[in-house]
Amino acid sequence: MAAFETDFRKAVVYQVYVKSFCDSDGDGLGDLPGITSKLDYLKHLGIDYLWLTPFYPSPQRDNGYDVSDYCAVDPAYGTMADFEELVAQARDRGIGIMLDMVLCHTSAKHEWFRRALMGEKRFQDYYILRDGRGSSGPGDPGEPPTNWQCAFGGSAWEWVPRLGKWYLHLHDRSQPDLNWENPEVRDALVDVVRFWKDKGVSGFRFDVVNLISKPAVFEDDTTGQGRRLFADGPHVHEFLKELVDRAGIDGMMTVGEMAATNLKNCVRYTNPAEHELGQVFTFHHLKVDYKDGQKWALQDPDIAKLREVFRLWQEGMQAGGGCNALFWCNHDQPRAITRFGGREGVGQTGGSWEKVGKMLALCTHLMQGVPYIFQGEEIGTTNAGFTSIDQFRDVETLNNYNILLGQGKTPAEALHIVNERSRDNGRTPMQWTGEKNAGFSTGTPWIGLPGNYDRVNVEAEMDKPGSLWSFYRELIRLRKEHAVISQGSVRFVDAGSAAPKVIAYERAYEGVRLLVLCSFDGAPCRATCEDTVFRWERGQVLIGNYDTPQVNAAGESVDLRPYEAVALIERA
Ligand code: GLC
Repeated sequence: MAAFETDFRKAVVYQVYVKSFCDSDGDGLGDLPGITSKLDYLKHLGIDYLWLTPFYPSPQRDNGYDVSDYCAVDPAYGTMADFEELVAQARDRGIGIMLDMVLCHTSAKHEWFRRALMGEKRFQDYYILRDGRGSSGPGDPGEPPTNWQCAFGGSAWEWVPRLGKWYLHLHDRSQPDLNWENPEVRDALVDVVRFWKDKGVSGFRFDVVNLISKPAVFEDDTTGQGRRLFADGPHVHEFLKELVDRAGIDGMMTVGEMAATNLKNCVRYTNPAEHELGQVFTFHHLKVDYKDGQKWALQDPDIAKLREVFRLWQEGMQAGGGCNALFWCNHDQPRAITRFGGREGVGQTGGSWEKVGKMLALCTHLMQGVPYIFQGEEIGTTNAGFTSIDQFRDVETLNNYNILLGQGKTPAEALHIVNERSRDNGRTPMQWTGEKNAGFSTGTPWIGLPGNYDRVNVEAEMDKPGSLWSFYRELIRLRKEHAVISQGSVRFVDAGSAAPKVIAYERAYEGVRLLVLCSFDGAPCRATCEDTVFRWERGQVLIGNYDTPQVNAAGESVDLRPYEAVALIERA
Protein backbone atom coordinates (compact mmCIF):
# COMPACT_ATOMS: atom_id res chain seq x y z
CA MET A 1 0.00 0.00 0.00
CA ALA A 2 1.39 3.39 -0.96
CA ALA A 3 1.42 6.20 1.62
CA PHE A 4 -1.03 9.09 1.40
CA GLU A 5 0.10 12.67 1.21
CA THR A 6 -1.00 13.84 4.64
CA ASP A 7 0.71 17.22 4.42
CA PHE A 8 -2.16 18.90 2.57
CA ARG A 9 0.03 21.84 1.62
CA LYS A 10 1.87 19.50 -0.74
CA ALA A 11 -1.25 17.78 -2.04
CA VAL A 12 -3.08 18.25 -5.33
CA VAL A 13 -6.68 17.14 -5.80
CA TYR A 14 -8.24 15.96 -9.05
CA GLN A 15 -11.98 16.28 -9.55
CA VAL A 16 -13.80 13.54 -11.40
CA TYR A 17 -17.24 14.27 -12.79
CA VAL A 18 -18.38 10.67 -12.53
CA LYS A 19 -21.01 10.87 -15.22
CA SER A 20 -18.46 11.98 -17.81
CA PHE A 21 -15.15 10.39 -16.89
CA CYS A 22 -15.07 6.84 -18.22
CA ASP A 23 -17.88 4.51 -19.22
CA SER A 24 -16.96 0.86 -18.62
CA ASP A 25 -20.23 -0.73 -19.77
CA GLY A 26 -21.23 1.17 -22.88
CA ASP A 27 -24.42 2.78 -21.53
CA GLY A 28 -23.17 6.28 -22.31
CA LEU A 29 -22.64 7.22 -18.65
CA GLY A 30 -19.36 7.20 -16.80
CA ASP A 31 -19.21 4.83 -13.84
CA LEU A 32 -17.17 3.68 -10.85
CA PRO A 33 -15.36 0.77 -12.58
CA GLY A 34 -14.45 3.27 -15.31
CA ILE A 35 -12.71 5.45 -12.72
CA THR A 36 -10.87 2.44 -11.27
CA SER A 37 -9.58 1.63 -14.75
CA LYS A 38 -8.00 5.09 -14.95
CA LEU A 39 -6.24 5.17 -11.58
CA ASP A 40 -2.86 4.46 -13.15
CA TYR A 41 -3.36 7.46 -15.41
CA LEU A 42 -4.08 9.66 -12.39
CA LYS A 43 -1.17 8.26 -10.44
CA HIS A 44 1.10 9.02 -13.36
CA LEU A 45 -0.13 12.60 -13.45
CA GLY A 46 0.88 12.76 -9.79
CA ILE A 47 -2.29 13.74 -7.96
CA ASP A 48 -2.97 12.78 -4.34
CA TYR A 49 -6.74 12.90 -3.88
CA LEU A 50 -9.71 12.25 -6.12
CA TRP A 51 -12.93 14.13 -5.47
CA LEU A 52 -15.86 12.24 -6.97
CA THR A 53 -19.06 14.13 -7.76
CA PRO A 54 -22.27 12.48 -6.44
CA PHE A 55 -22.97 8.93 -7.59
CA TYR A 56 -25.79 8.25 -5.12
CA PRO A 57 -29.30 7.31 -6.22
CA SER A 58 -30.91 10.38 -7.71
CA PRO A 59 -33.60 11.36 -10.20
CA GLN A 60 -30.80 13.38 -11.90
CA ARG A 61 -32.75 16.61 -12.17
CA ASP A 62 -29.50 18.30 -11.15
CA ASN A 63 -27.11 15.56 -12.25
CA GLY A 64 -26.92 13.83 -8.91
CA TYR A 65 -26.90 16.92 -6.69
CA ASP A 66 -30.48 15.91 -6.00
CA VAL A 67 -29.81 12.90 -3.78
CA SER A 68 -32.63 10.47 -3.02
CA ASP A 69 -30.54 8.08 -0.90
CA TYR A 70 -27.34 9.25 0.78
CA CYS A 71 -25.90 5.84 1.63
CA ALA A 72 -26.10 3.87 -1.59
CA VAL A 73 -24.70 3.77 -5.12
CA ASP A 74 -26.95 4.56 -8.07
CA PRO A 75 -27.04 1.38 -10.20
CA ALA A 76 -26.26 3.53 -13.24
CA TYR A 77 -22.78 4.09 -11.74
CA GLY A 78 -22.11 0.63 -10.36
CA THR A 79 -22.47 -1.18 -7.04
CA MET A 80 -21.25 -0.72 -3.49
CA ALA A 81 -18.71 -3.46 -4.22
CA ASP A 82 -17.44 -1.38 -7.16
CA PHE A 83 -17.06 1.57 -4.83
CA GLU A 84 -15.15 -0.46 -2.26
CA GLU A 85 -12.89 -1.76 -5.01
CA LEU A 86 -12.22 1.78 -6.19
CA VAL A 87 -11.29 2.91 -2.67
CA ALA A 88 -8.97 -0.09 -2.21
CA GLN A 89 -7.31 0.27 -5.61
CA ALA A 90 -6.83 3.99 -5.07
CA ARG A 91 -5.32 3.37 -1.65
CA ASP A 92 -2.86 0.91 -3.18
CA ARG A 93 -1.62 3.78 -5.33
CA GLY A 94 -1.49 6.30 -2.48
CA ILE A 95 -4.58 8.12 -3.75
CA GLY A 96 -7.31 9.12 -1.30
CA ILE A 97 -10.97 9.29 -2.31
CA MET A 98 -13.02 12.37 -1.39
CA LEU A 99 -16.79 12.27 -1.58
CA ASP A 100 -19.28 14.99 -2.34
CA MET A 101 -21.73 15.54 0.51
CA VAL A 102 -24.89 17.32 -0.63
CA LEU A 103 -26.34 18.05 2.78
CA CYS A 104 -28.02 21.42 2.27
CA HIS A 105 -30.95 19.86 0.42
CA THR A 106 -32.25 16.45 -0.62
CA SER A 107 -34.06 15.38 -3.75
CA ALA A 108 -37.83 15.76 -3.62
CA LYS A 109 -37.81 11.99 -4.16
CA HIS A 110 -35.89 11.32 -0.95
CA GLU A 111 -37.86 9.24 1.49
CA TRP A 112 -37.84 12.07 4.04
CA PHE A 113 -39.52 14.48 1.65
CA ARG A 114 -41.95 11.86 0.41
CA ARG A 115 -43.03 11.16 3.96
CA ALA A 116 -43.31 14.89 4.61
CA LEU A 117 -45.63 15.16 1.63
CA MET A 118 -47.66 12.21 2.89
CA GLY A 119 -48.38 14.29 5.98
CA GLU A 120 -45.90 12.94 8.54
CA LYS A 121 -45.24 15.85 10.86
CA ARG A 122 -41.87 14.41 11.91
CA PHE A 123 -40.57 14.65 8.35
CA GLN A 124 -42.23 17.97 7.63
CA ASP A 125 -39.89 19.31 10.28
CA TYR A 126 -36.96 18.08 8.20
CA TYR A 127 -37.74 20.77 5.62
CA ILE A 128 -38.68 24.44 5.55
CA LEU A 129 -42.42 24.81 5.05
CA ARG A 130 -44.24 28.12 5.32
CA ASP A 131 -47.66 29.64 4.76
CA GLY A 132 -48.22 31.85 1.73
CA ARG A 133 -48.19 35.58 2.04
CA GLY A 134 -51.64 37.14 1.95
CA SER A 135 -53.33 33.73 1.88
CA SER A 136 -57.03 33.86 2.77
CA GLY A 137 -56.87 30.42 4.39
CA PRO A 138 -56.25 26.74 3.65
CA GLY A 139 -56.18 26.04 -0.08
CA ASP A 140 -55.22 29.56 -1.07
CA PRO A 141 -51.48 29.73 -1.84
CA GLY A 142 -51.37 33.52 -1.72
CA GLU A 143 -47.90 34.71 -2.67
CA PRO A 144 -44.57 32.96 -1.95
CA PRO A 145 -43.42 33.70 1.63
CA THR A 146 -40.50 35.87 0.42
CA ASN A 147 -39.21 37.19 -2.90
CA TRP A 148 -36.06 35.03 -2.76
CA GLN A 149 -34.81 33.67 -6.06
CA CYS A 150 -33.40 30.18 -6.47
CA ALA A 151 -29.97 29.64 -8.01
CA PHE A 152 -31.30 28.35 -11.30
CA GLY A 153 -33.82 31.12 -12.03
CA GLY A 154 -37.29 31.78 -10.60
CA SER A 155 -38.76 31.78 -7.09
CA ALA A 156 -37.08 29.81 -4.29
CA TRP A 157 -40.50 28.64 -3.07
CA GLU A 158 -42.78 25.90 -4.37
CA TRP A 159 -46.42 25.47 -3.41
CA VAL A 160 -47.64 22.06 -2.22
CA PRO A 161 -51.42 21.98 -2.58
CA ARG A 162 -51.77 18.85 -0.50
CA LEU A 163 -50.12 20.49 2.51
CA GLY A 164 -51.32 24.01 1.86
CA LYS A 165 -47.72 25.21 2.37
CA TRP A 166 -44.76 26.44 0.39
CA TYR A 167 -41.36 24.78 0.72
CA LEU A 168 -38.00 26.47 0.33
CA HIS A 169 -35.56 25.37 -2.37
CA LEU A 170 -32.49 27.53 -2.88
CA HIS A 171 -31.68 25.45 -5.98
CA ASP A 172 -34.05 23.60 -8.31
CA ARG A 173 -37.58 22.96 -7.10
CA SER A 174 -36.70 19.28 -7.03
CA GLN A 175 -34.17 20.10 -4.27
CA PRO A 176 -36.01 21.04 -1.06
CA ASP A 177 -33.72 22.60 1.56
CA LEU A 178 -33.18 20.69 4.78
CA ASN A 179 -34.00 22.29 8.10
CA TRP A 180 -30.69 22.20 9.97
CA GLU A 181 -32.32 23.84 12.99
CA ASN A 182 -33.89 20.44 13.65
CA PRO A 183 -31.40 18.36 15.71
CA GLU A 184 -32.80 15.15 14.24
CA VAL A 185 -31.76 16.33 10.77
CA ARG A 186 -28.27 17.05 12.00
CA ASP A 187 -28.07 13.60 13.62
CA ALA A 188 -29.13 11.95 10.38
CA LEU A 189 -26.51 13.86 8.39
CA VAL A 190 -23.75 12.97 10.85
CA ASP A 191 -24.68 9.34 10.22
CA VAL A 192 -24.31 9.87 6.46
CA VAL A 193 -20.80 11.26 6.78
CA ARG A 194 -19.81 8.50 9.22
CA PHE A 195 -21.19 5.86 6.87
CA TRP A 196 -18.79 6.91 4.11
CA LYS A 197 -15.91 7.52 6.46
CA ASP A 198 -16.30 3.93 7.63
CA LYS A 199 -16.05 2.82 4.00
CA GLY A 200 -12.49 4.13 4.01
CA VAL A 201 -12.79 7.45 2.22
CA SER A 202 -10.09 10.02 2.95
CA GLY A 203 -11.97 13.28 2.66
CA PHE A 204 -15.10 15.20 1.80
CA ARG A 205 -16.29 18.09 -0.31
CA PHE A 206 -19.38 19.76 1.16
CA ASP A 207 -21.79 21.15 -1.38
CA VAL A 208 -23.03 24.76 -0.85
CA VAL A 209 -22.38 24.24 2.83
CA ASN A 210 -22.53 27.90 3.83
CA LEU A 211 -26.25 27.90 2.99
CA ILE A 212 -27.22 25.39 5.69
CA SER A 213 -28.18 27.93 8.35
CA LYS A 214 -31.10 30.06 7.23
CA PRO A 215 -31.78 33.59 8.54
CA ALA A 216 -33.67 33.80 11.83
CA VAL A 217 -36.41 35.86 10.22
CA PHE A 218 -37.50 35.36 6.61
CA GLU A 219 -37.72 38.78 5.00
CA ASP A 220 -37.83 40.01 1.44
CA ASP A 221 -34.59 40.93 -0.25
CA THR A 222 -35.12 44.65 -0.61
CA THR A 223 -31.48 45.65 -1.01
CA GLY A 224 -30.53 43.40 -3.93
CA GLN A 225 -28.26 41.30 -1.71
CA GLY A 226 -29.26 38.12 -3.55
CA ARG A 227 -27.66 35.06 -2.05
CA ARG A 228 -25.74 37.05 0.60
CA LEU A 229 -29.07 37.21 2.39
CA PHE A 230 -28.97 33.53 3.23
CA ALA A 231 -25.24 32.76 2.97
CA ASP A 232 -23.06 32.29 6.09
CA GLY A 233 -26.19 32.21 8.27
CA PRO A 234 -26.37 32.68 12.04
CA HIS A 235 -25.55 29.09 13.08
CA VAL A 236 -23.37 27.99 10.19
CA HIS A 237 -20.11 27.75 12.14
CA GLU A 238 -21.79 26.00 15.05
CA PHE A 239 -23.46 23.46 12.73
CA LEU A 240 -20.22 22.77 10.88
CA LYS A 241 -18.21 22.31 14.07
CA GLU A 242 -20.80 19.90 15.36
CA LEU A 243 -20.85 17.89 12.13
CA VAL A 244 -17.06 17.70 11.89
CA ASP A 245 -16.69 16.74 15.52
CA ARG A 246 -19.45 14.17 15.67
CA ALA A 247 -18.62 12.56 12.33
CA GLY A 248 -14.98 12.39 13.43
CA ILE A 249 -13.53 14.08 10.36
CA ASP A 250 -11.49 16.89 11.91
CA GLY A 251 -8.08 16.98 10.24
CA MET A 252 -9.20 14.95 7.22
CA MET A 253 -8.97 16.42 3.72
CA THR A 254 -12.11 18.56 3.59
CA VAL A 255 -13.30 21.43 1.47
CA GLY A 256 -16.50 23.44 1.55
CA GLU A 257 -18.19 25.04 -1.40
CA MET A 258 -19.11 28.56 -0.32
CA ALA A 259 -21.73 30.53 -2.20
CA ALA A 260 -21.61 34.33 -2.00
CA THR A 261 -19.31 34.25 1.01
CA ASN A 262 -16.75 36.67 2.46
CA LEU A 263 -13.20 36.59 3.74
CA LYS A 264 -14.08 36.86 7.41
CA ASN A 265 -16.26 33.77 7.34
CA CYS A 266 -13.81 31.82 5.19
CA VAL A 267 -11.01 32.45 7.66
CA ARG A 268 -13.24 30.91 10.29
CA TYR A 269 -14.25 27.98 8.10
CA THR A 270 -10.63 27.02 7.51
CA ASN A 271 -8.44 28.21 10.37
CA PRO A 272 -7.40 24.88 11.99
CA ALA A 273 -8.10 26.30 15.45
CA GLU A 274 -11.79 26.46 14.56
CA HIS A 275 -12.02 22.72 13.74
CA GLU A 276 -14.31 23.26 10.77
CA LEU A 277 -12.92 22.60 7.27
CA GLY A 278 -9.59 22.29 5.46
CA GLN A 279 -10.22 24.65 2.55
CA VAL A 280 -12.94 26.64 0.85
CA PHE A 281 -14.01 27.07 -2.72
CA THR A 282 -14.94 30.69 -3.32
CA PHE A 283 -16.09 32.11 -6.64
CA HIS A 284 -15.31 35.81 -6.73
CA HIS A 285 -12.47 35.24 -9.23
CA LEU A 286 -14.87 33.50 -11.60
CA LYS A 287 -17.27 36.42 -11.82
CA VAL A 288 -14.86 38.87 -13.40
CA ASP A 289 -16.46 38.31 -16.80
CA TYR A 290 -20.03 38.75 -15.54
CA LYS A 291 -21.39 42.01 -16.90
CA ASP A 292 -22.82 44.01 -13.99
CA GLY A 293 -22.45 40.90 -11.88
CA GLN A 294 -24.93 38.99 -14.03
CA LYS A 295 -23.88 35.48 -15.04
CA TRP A 296 -26.01 35.50 -18.19
CA ALA A 297 -24.57 38.78 -19.51
CA LEU A 298 -21.19 38.66 -21.25
CA GLN A 299 -18.11 40.82 -20.98
CA ASP A 300 -14.37 40.24 -21.37
CA PRO A 301 -12.60 39.26 -18.15
CA ASP A 302 -11.66 42.27 -16.03
CA ILE A 303 -8.07 41.42 -15.10
CA ALA A 304 -7.60 44.33 -12.69
CA LYS A 305 -10.53 42.96 -10.74
CA LEU A 306 -9.17 39.42 -10.95
CA ARG A 307 -5.85 40.59 -9.52
CA GLU A 308 -7.62 42.36 -6.69
CA VAL A 309 -9.71 39.29 -5.85
CA PHE A 310 -6.64 37.05 -5.76
CA ARG A 311 -4.71 39.54 -3.68
CA LEU A 312 -7.51 39.86 -1.18
CA TRP A 313 -8.02 36.11 -0.80
CA GLN A 314 -4.35 35.10 -0.84
CA GLU A 315 -3.12 37.75 1.56
CA GLY A 316 -6.32 37.78 3.60
CA MET A 317 -6.45 34.04 4.19
CA GLN A 318 -2.75 34.08 5.03
CA ALA A 319 -3.28 36.82 7.61
CA GLY A 320 -6.18 34.98 9.20
CA GLY A 321 -4.58 31.53 9.08
CA GLY A 322 -7.17 30.22 6.62
CA CYS A 323 -6.68 28.16 3.48
CA ASN A 324 -7.96 28.53 -0.08
CA ALA A 325 -8.78 25.80 -2.56
CA LEU A 326 -7.09 26.93 -5.80
CA PHE A 327 -9.06 26.29 -8.97
CA TRP A 328 -10.30 27.61 -12.29
CA CYS A 329 -12.58 24.83 -13.43
CA ASN A 330 -15.20 22.49 -12.06
CA HIS A 331 -18.46 20.95 -13.23
CA ASP A 332 -20.29 24.26 -12.72
CA GLN A 333 -17.95 26.43 -14.77
CA PRO A 334 -17.24 26.97 -18.44
CA ARG A 335 -13.70 25.95 -19.39
CA ALA A 336 -11.20 28.57 -18.20
CA ILE A 337 -8.87 28.02 -21.15
CA THR A 338 -11.62 29.25 -23.51
CA ARG A 339 -12.83 31.92 -21.11
CA PHE A 340 -9.45 33.61 -20.68
CA GLY A 341 -8.46 33.76 -24.33
CA GLY A 342 -7.17 30.32 -25.37
CA ARG A 343 -9.21 30.11 -28.54
CA GLU A 344 -6.43 29.86 -31.13
CA GLY A 345 -4.34 26.88 -32.15
CA VAL A 346 -6.49 24.45 -30.21
CA GLY A 347 -4.69 21.13 -29.84
CA GLN A 348 -1.33 22.44 -31.06
CA THR A 349 1.81 23.76 -29.47
CA GLY A 350 1.98 27.52 -29.99
CA GLY A 351 -1.08 29.71 -30.21
CA SER A 352 -3.10 31.08 -27.35
CA TRP A 353 -4.67 27.71 -26.47
CA GLU A 354 -1.42 26.25 -25.19
CA LYS A 355 -0.09 29.48 -23.68
CA VAL A 356 -3.28 30.34 -21.81
CA GLY A 357 -3.66 26.77 -20.53
CA LYS A 358 -0.16 26.82 -19.05
CA MET A 359 -0.42 30.39 -17.78
CA LEU A 360 -3.63 29.66 -15.87
CA ALA A 361 -2.15 26.49 -14.37
CA LEU A 362 1.02 28.24 -13.27
CA CYS A 363 -0.96 31.15 -11.82
CA THR A 364 -2.93 29.07 -9.32
CA HIS A 365 -0.59 26.13 -8.71
CA LEU A 366 2.12 28.37 -7.29
CA MET A 367 -0.24 30.15 -4.89
CA GLN A 368 -0.81 29.36 -1.24
CA GLY A 369 -3.50 26.72 -0.73
CA VAL A 370 -4.50 23.41 -2.28
CA PRO A 371 -4.71 23.16 -6.09
CA TYR A 372 -7.66 21.36 -7.67
CA ILE A 373 -7.55 20.09 -11.24
CA PHE A 374 -10.84 19.40 -12.95
CA GLN A 375 -10.90 16.44 -15.33
CA GLY A 376 -9.74 17.40 -18.78
CA GLU A 377 -8.13 20.65 -17.66
CA GLU A 378 -4.73 18.95 -17.89
CA ILE A 379 -5.23 18.36 -21.62
CA GLY A 380 -6.78 21.76 -22.37
CA THR A 381 -10.40 20.73 -22.86
CA THR A 382 -12.30 23.66 -24.34
CA ASN A 383 -15.90 24.80 -24.13
CA ALA A 384 -18.32 22.54 -25.97
CA GLY A 385 -19.27 24.87 -28.83
CA PHE A 386 -22.76 23.41 -29.18
CA THR A 387 -24.81 24.55 -32.15
CA SER A 388 -28.32 23.89 -30.85
CA ILE A 389 -30.08 24.27 -27.51
CA ASP A 390 -31.11 20.60 -27.80
CA GLN A 391 -27.52 19.62 -27.09
CA PHE A 392 -27.62 21.12 -23.59
CA ARG A 393 -28.71 19.04 -20.60
CA ASP A 394 -28.27 21.29 -17.56
CA VAL A 395 -31.38 22.50 -15.75
CA GLU A 396 -29.81 25.90 -14.99
CA THR A 397 -28.87 26.40 -18.64
CA LEU A 398 -32.28 25.44 -19.98
CA ASN A 399 -34.07 27.69 -17.46
CA ASN A 400 -31.87 30.64 -18.29
CA TYR A 401 -32.11 30.11 -22.03
CA ASN A 402 -35.86 30.54 -21.66
CA ILE A 403 -35.42 33.54 -19.39
CA LEU A 404 -33.14 35.14 -22.03
CA LEU A 405 -35.74 34.53 -24.73
CA GLY A 406 -38.37 36.04 -22.43
CA GLN A 407 -36.17 39.13 -22.11
CA GLY A 408 -36.32 39.57 -25.88
CA LYS A 409 -33.04 37.94 -26.94
CA THR A 410 -33.19 36.10 -30.27
CA PRO A 411 -32.56 32.32 -30.19
CA ALA A 412 -29.13 32.93 -31.76
CA GLU A 413 -28.20 35.50 -29.11
CA ALA A 414 -29.45 33.30 -26.30
CA LEU A 415 -27.53 30.32 -27.71
CA HIS A 416 -24.36 32.39 -27.90
CA ILE A 417 -24.69 33.38 -24.24
CA VAL A 418 -25.39 29.87 -22.96
CA ASN A 419 -22.50 28.55 -25.03
CA GLU A 420 -20.18 30.86 -23.12
CA ARG A 421 -21.71 30.34 -19.69
CA SER A 422 -23.35 26.93 -19.48
CA ARG A 423 -22.25 24.47 -16.83
CA ASP A 424 -22.46 21.80 -19.54
CA ASN A 425 -19.14 23.13 -20.88
CA GLY A 426 -17.56 21.49 -17.87
CA ARG A 427 -19.58 18.29 -18.17
CA THR A 428 -18.70 16.94 -21.59
CA PRO A 429 -17.02 13.50 -21.63
CA MET A 430 -13.34 13.15 -20.80
CA GLN A 431 -11.32 13.01 -24.02
CA TRP A 432 -9.08 9.98 -23.80
CA THR A 433 -8.28 9.35 -27.46
CA GLY A 434 -9.02 10.72 -30.92
CA GLU A 435 -11.30 7.76 -31.66
CA LYS A 436 -15.10 7.66 -31.63
CA ASN A 437 -16.55 9.45 -28.57
CA ALA A 438 -12.97 10.24 -27.57
CA GLY A 439 -12.69 6.77 -26.11
CA PHE A 440 -15.12 7.72 -23.32
CA SER A 441 -17.82 5.23 -24.25
CA THR A 442 -18.65 2.61 -26.85
CA GLY A 443 -22.31 3.64 -26.57
CA THR A 444 -23.96 7.02 -27.08
CA PRO A 445 -22.64 9.54 -24.54
CA TRP A 446 -25.33 11.24 -22.44
CA ILE A 447 -24.04 14.59 -23.70
CA GLY A 448 -21.99 15.54 -26.76
CA LEU A 449 -18.30 16.41 -26.97
CA PRO A 450 -16.41 19.43 -28.27
CA GLY A 451 -15.69 18.88 -31.97
CA ASN A 452 -11.93 19.21 -31.41
CA TYR A 453 -11.42 15.99 -29.42
CA ASP A 454 -9.53 14.46 -32.33
CA ARG A 455 -6.72 16.91 -31.44
CA VAL A 456 -7.35 17.50 -27.73
CA ASN A 457 -7.06 14.20 -25.89
CA VAL A 458 -4.97 12.30 -23.37
CA GLU A 459 -3.28 10.15 -25.96
CA ALA A 460 -2.04 13.21 -27.84
CA GLU A 461 -0.87 15.11 -24.73
CA MET A 462 0.39 12.60 -22.17
CA ASP A 463 4.15 12.46 -21.68
CA LYS A 464 4.70 14.68 -24.70
CA PRO A 465 7.59 17.07 -23.98
CA GLY A 466 6.33 20.64 -23.88
CA SER A 467 2.66 19.65 -23.73
CA LEU A 468 0.11 21.19 -21.39
CA TRP A 469 -0.25 17.79 -19.72
CA SER A 470 3.48 17.63 -19.02
CA PHE A 471 3.32 21.16 -17.63
CA TYR A 472 0.63 20.13 -15.14
CA ARG A 473 2.65 17.13 -14.09
CA GLU A 474 5.66 19.33 -13.52
CA LEU A 475 3.66 21.81 -11.44
CA ILE A 476 2.37 18.99 -9.23
CA ARG A 477 5.92 17.74 -8.78
CA LEU A 478 7.29 21.19 -7.99
CA ARG A 479 4.77 21.68 -5.17
CA LYS A 480 6.06 18.53 -3.53
CA GLU A 481 9.69 19.45 -4.03
CA HIS A 482 9.74 23.12 -3.02
CA ALA A 483 8.72 24.24 0.46
CA VAL A 484 8.50 27.78 -0.88
CA ILE A 485 5.47 26.66 -2.91
CA SER A 486 3.80 24.50 -0.27
CA GLN A 487 4.65 26.63 2.77
CA GLY A 488 5.95 30.01 1.67
CA SER A 489 4.39 33.33 2.54
CA VAL A 490 2.62 35.19 -0.26
CA ARG A 491 2.65 38.85 -1.20
CA PHE A 492 1.18 40.49 -4.27
CA VAL A 493 3.37 42.77 -6.36
CA ASP A 494 2.42 45.66 -8.60
CA ALA A 495 3.60 44.75 -12.11
CA GLY A 496 3.55 48.42 -13.15
CA SER A 497 1.47 50.61 -15.43
CA ALA A 498 2.90 49.07 -18.62
CA ALA A 499 1.53 45.68 -17.54
CA PRO A 500 -2.15 46.27 -16.74
CA LYS A 501 -3.11 42.66 -17.36
CA VAL A 502 -0.33 41.01 -15.40
CA ILE A 503 -0.84 39.27 -12.08
CA ALA A 504 2.36 39.15 -10.08
CA TYR A 505 3.12 37.74 -6.67
CA GLU A 506 6.04 36.65 -4.55
CA ARG A 507 6.44 33.66 -2.31
CA ALA A 508 9.14 33.38 0.35
CA TYR A 509 10.35 30.65 2.65
CA GLU A 510 13.58 30.37 4.62
CA GLY A 511 15.74 32.42 2.31
CA VAL A 512 14.18 31.08 -0.89
CA ARG A 513 12.09 33.48 -2.90
CA LEU A 514 9.82 33.05 -5.92
CA LEU A 515 8.56 35.73 -8.25
CA VAL A 516 5.55 34.70 -10.32
CA LEU A 517 4.42 36.73 -13.33
CA CYS A 518 1.31 35.84 -15.30
CA SER A 519 0.23 37.85 -18.29
CA PHE A 520 -3.46 37.64 -19.16
CA ASP A 521 -2.70 39.93 -22.08
CA GLY A 522 -2.89 38.73 -25.69
CA ALA A 523 -0.38 41.50 -26.56
CA PRO A 524 3.21 41.97 -25.33
CA CYS A 525 3.81 44.12 -22.25
CA ARG A 526 6.56 45.13 -19.83
CA ALA A 527 6.39 44.25 -16.14
CA THR A 528 8.50 46.49 -13.90
CA CYS A 529 7.46 45.20 -10.47
CA GLU A 530 9.01 48.14 -8.64
CA ASP A 531 7.84 47.00 -5.24
CA THR A 532 9.35 43.53 -5.51
CA VAL A 533 12.13 42.52 -3.18
CA PHE A 534 13.15 39.78 -5.58
CA ARG A 535 16.78 40.03 -6.67
CA TRP A 536 16.62 39.58 -10.40
CA GLU A 537 20.33 39.01 -10.79
CA ARG A 538 20.02 35.84 -8.74
CA GLY A 539 16.87 34.68 -10.45
CA GLN A 540 16.64 31.40 -12.29
CA VAL A 541 13.67 30.07 -14.18
CA LEU A 542 11.74 27.51 -12.17
CA ILE A 543 9.01 27.02 -14.77
CA GLY A 544 7.49 29.04 -17.59
CA ASN A 545 5.51 28.75 -20.80
CA TYR A 546 8.13 30.28 -23.13
CA ASP A 547 11.74 29.19 -23.52
CA THR A 548 13.77 31.96 -21.92
CA PRO A 549 12.19 34.92 -20.15
CA GLN A 550 13.14 38.31 -21.51
CA VAL A 551 14.57 39.88 -18.39
CA ASN A 552 16.10 43.22 -19.29
CA ALA A 553 19.84 43.58 -18.95
CA ALA A 554 19.80 45.85 -15.93
CA GLY A 555 17.42 43.40 -14.36
CA GLU A 556 14.69 45.81 -13.52
CA SER A 557 11.94 44.64 -15.84
CA VAL A 558 10.68 41.69 -17.88
CA ASP A 559 9.19 41.85 -21.34
CA LEU A 560 6.31 39.45 -21.38
CA ARG A 561 5.00 37.89 -24.58
CA PRO A 562 1.29 37.14 -25.14
CA TYR A 563 -0.04 35.12 -22.21
CA GLU A 564 3.45 34.51 -20.89
CA ALA A 565 3.81 33.08 -17.40
CA VAL A 566 7.05 32.55 -15.57
CA ALA A 567 8.19 31.71 -12.08
CA LEU A 568 11.69 32.83 -11.16
CA ILE A 569 13.41 31.42 -8.12
CA GLU A 570 16.07 33.16 -6.09
CA ARG A 571 18.08 31.17 -3.63
CA ALA A 572 20.02 32.66 -0.74
C1 GLC B 1 -23.29 23.04 -6.08
C2 GLC B 1 -22.93 22.02 -7.12
C3 GLC B 1 -23.85 22.21 -8.28
C4 GLC B 1 -25.25 21.97 -7.82
C5 GLC B 1 -25.60 22.86 -6.63
C6 GLC B 1 -26.83 22.38 -5.93
O1 GLC B 1 -23.11 24.34 -6.50
O2 GLC B 1 -21.58 22.14 -7.44
O3 GLC B 1 -23.53 21.37 -9.36
O4 GLC B 1 -26.15 22.24 -8.84
O5 GLC B 1 -24.58 22.84 -5.64
O6 GLC B 1 -26.58 21.18 -5.26
